Amino acid sequence: MMMKTKTIFAWKDRESAVAQAAETLQNGGLVVFPTETVYGLGANAFDADAVRHIFEAKGRPQDNPLIVHIADMERLADVAAEVSETARRLMKAFWPGPISIIVKKSARIPDAVSAGLETVAVRMPGNDLARAIIARAGIPVAAPSANTSGKPSPTLARHAYEDLCGKVPLIIDGGPCRVGVESTVVDATGEVPVILRPGDITPEMIREAAGGVRVHHGVMSEAQKDEVCASPGMKYKHYAPKANVTIFTGDKKEVAKCIHFRYYSDSMQGRKAVVLCLDECAGLYPGCELLTLGAGAKDAEAALFRTLREIDEQGFDAAYFHAQEEKMGLAVMNRIIRAAGHRIVAAGEEKE
Ligand code: TXA
Ligand code: MG
Repeated sequence: MMMKTKTIFAWKDRESAVAQAAETLQNGGLVVFPTETVYGLGANAFDADAVRHIFEAKGRPQDNPLIVHIADMERLADVAAEVSETARRLMKAFWPGPISIIVKKSARIPDAVSAGLETVAVRMPGNDLARAIIARAGIPVAAPSANTSGKPSPTLARHAYEDLCGKVPLIIDGGPCRVGVESTVVDATGEVPVILRPGDITPEMIREAAGGVRVHHGVMSEAQKDEVCASPGMKYKHYAPKANVTIFTGDKKEVAKCIHFRYYSDSMQGRKAVVLCLDECAGLYPGCELLTLGAGAKDAEAALFRTLREIDEQGFDAAYFHAQEEKMGLAVMNRIIRAAGHRIVAAGEEKE
């Protein structure tokens, strides 16, 4: 069913953005709203029908659970039946902020939200506008990223509009998202927190707050198709542009050599290629089409999804990603590995 999609610019009229978003959520409607990570597609987390519309609008598989967003600690009990000591420590250290914490779910949260799991991921977003909307609505808000399933997450309202126009009644434009990659997802039901999806809150930060940390093995490798997933989101190909993305790792100069070779053979065959790298490597690619990701991990997080969309907007057939794992960080590497469909070339060892 197609509907008219209205956009409100929050910087022009914040009060009506908050009021109309809250009212739409209360009435069982969907609202695209900004958070500090990426734009979310929200619905009343208590309303199974509203939540089902999220899955329809995104084309999202039913077995992938949603994150529930709250605006203040007083409402945590609406969502969680049990909050471990580990979870409490993480909430105290990082909320409001870009981390989703998995706890035992309350009976008020329908199976449509948790995809039948006994747990639920809860997040208190760091973005003021997001919290104002949730607080005004007076209900917890279930919200995945506001993209079509399989596309890069939206870091601008325009991205969400491109994916969801005609499928949602309201988009709140709050400008670009500060962080740019989705929240860190942590299972805090046990004693040691387990990172299921890396984000801006790093393993080191979590270790410091909780006294320990594990990174789930699925974070940097492909989950087996029939493996029972700790985080169902891990098994889907994600963030993929239409262009083929290939990652190159290894010594800078070797990487540049490999990429130049591929780039040259592409142009001989009439294929349009582009190189993605940090600023410090831009000089290695004279004469090449280039999309730079900034100086380090924070910049690369903020730029990554927008850049993946630009690859398609500019009609490139191939994208070569010059990886610098140490400098780019776990969150960026995790997203690009999925975007590349796990095509990784160790430079110097390329066999063809
Ligand atoms: O930054 C974010 O987290 C954004 C903004 C809108 O808050 N939301 C977001 O939601 O990225 P989504 O649905 O795109 O990703 C949620 C991830 C999925 O990988 C899902 O499998 C995992 O969290 N997840 C949610 N609930 C879970 C649970 N109970 N157990 C394990 N994984 C869970
Ligand atoms: Mg998502």
